[in-house]
Amino acid sequence: MPWKKGLLFLGLALGLGGILLLLLSILTANYSGRMRDDEALNVYQLSLPARPRGTIPLGGGIEVLRKADPRRLRNPRPLTRAVLDQGRQAYSHYCWPCHGPELDGKATVGQSFYPLPTDLLGPTVQNQSDGELFYKISLGYKRQPPLYATLAAADRWAVIHYLRALARKKG
Ligand code: HEC
Repeated sequence: MPWKKGLLFLGLALGLGGILLLLLSILTANYSGRMRDDEALNVYQLSLPARPRGTIPLGGGIEVLRKADPRRLRNPRPLTRAVLDQGRQAYSHYCWPCHGPELDGKATVGQSFYPLPTDLLGPTVQNQSDGELFYKISLGYKRQPPLYATLAAADRWAVIHYLRALARKKG
């Protein structure tokens, strides 16, 4: 049966042709090699870019205050009407709810504290230096919350001028 031979021949020819094509494509393909030899961005092999100046603080910060001697801290704000105004405003925003309109510790929020918020015009507070008060207001003291992250340092110093001014007026 000649047609069966023909079929066999055709199959062989196709098979051989396929193998040839495969070999040809392997030989002519533009392989770039193994993956590990590829050019790739290996982040861990890069050196760090230079750090722009001033982006990482190397000095200052709250830790400096924590280590400071409160009695050696000096109020850097001048005693001016503008600073007193700033102090009054800071007080009304950040102290008033606890220490109250009369600064005597009688206020809505303050009433839930034991002991009650200290009378800011009384001797306990007024006999301390500005630095000692700044230290306590900033970092907290007993029930007094730390406010360094709530008020700017300039506001905290201004509040102290304000407390002094009111105590002078009262006394
Ligand atoms: C959440 C309530 C609260 C707020 C807000 C608050 N205080 Fe007080 N403060 C207290 C309490 C309570 C005490 C009493 C602390 C104690 O003796 O336990 C106190 C005590 C103090 C003292 C006395 C510390 C001492 O030497 O005994 C000062 C000074 C003071 N506060 C200032 C301020 C100033 C200034 C602000 C605003 C910038 C302020 N406080 C905001 C609750 C508060």
